[in-house]
Amino acid sequence: MSSEGSHYFDAQPSVGSNRQQIELSLADVFLELHTDSGVFSAGRVDPGTRYLLQEMPPVPDETTSVLDLGCGYGPIALTMARRAPGAAVFGVDVNERALALARENADANGIETASFVTGAEVPADQRFDLIVSNPPIRIGKQALHGLLAEWIPRLSPGGCAWMVVQKHLGSDSLATWMTDQGWPTTRLSSRKGYRILETTVGTT
Ligand SMILES: C[S@@+](CC[C@H](N)C(=O)[O-])C[C@H]1O[C@@H](n2cnc3c(N)ncnc32)[C@H](O)[C@@H]1O
Repeated sequence: MSSEGSHYFDAQPSVGSNRQQIELSLADVFLELHTDSGVFSAGRVDPGTRYLLQEMPPVPDETTSVLDLGCGYGPIALTMARRAPGAAVFGVDVNERALALARENADANGIETASFVTGAEVPADQRFDLIVSNPPIRIGKQALHGLLAEWIPRLSPGGCAWMVVQKHLGSDSLATWMTDQGWPTTRLSSRKGYRILETTVGTT
């Protein structure tokens, strides 16, 4: 993301701070969000993230736990916390600057049900009814597959994952790979080069 070799998925971005405040305005959710350089899509909510949040199906009533895999400064996790106020929401990221912003954004928007932590800090026995994610495609295929292999099996029986992926970044081959792993994945929606993929797991 920068000519100095800093990436939005670095644990501690080397690029200096340049804080901004942006808004996420959806039909049902409004959030003010602090962002900073060194995190993904600091200048505005990413168009893919916005598309996912606009187009995803309603959150099932029985949802008690949600994971935002690669939460950044928290737009997905915080929207899920608003839409499923009874659920425990976990936002997971490797970028400590992003995690600090996400915690700050939860406080600033009065949200107490969302936790923002590294993957290792999520209790090992925690399962998720729902995973909603704009996943880190740019970490590379092998790393991405490893990440999904770590988290998709943590879906509760009958749970599902909704992920937004750009077509030109391999959404269709990702869906095929996931299905081949035994996690049936279909295209739920498609627009302007983005796909929303739905992955379901059985009830047993
Ligand atoms: C495409 S960005 C999406 C960020 C945020 N959800 C949004 O919509 O603005 C993907 C995020 O995944 C994070 N990430 C990269 N590798 C990761 C890993 N191994 N575990 C968890 N998160 C990771 C990146 O730091 C980045 O914040």
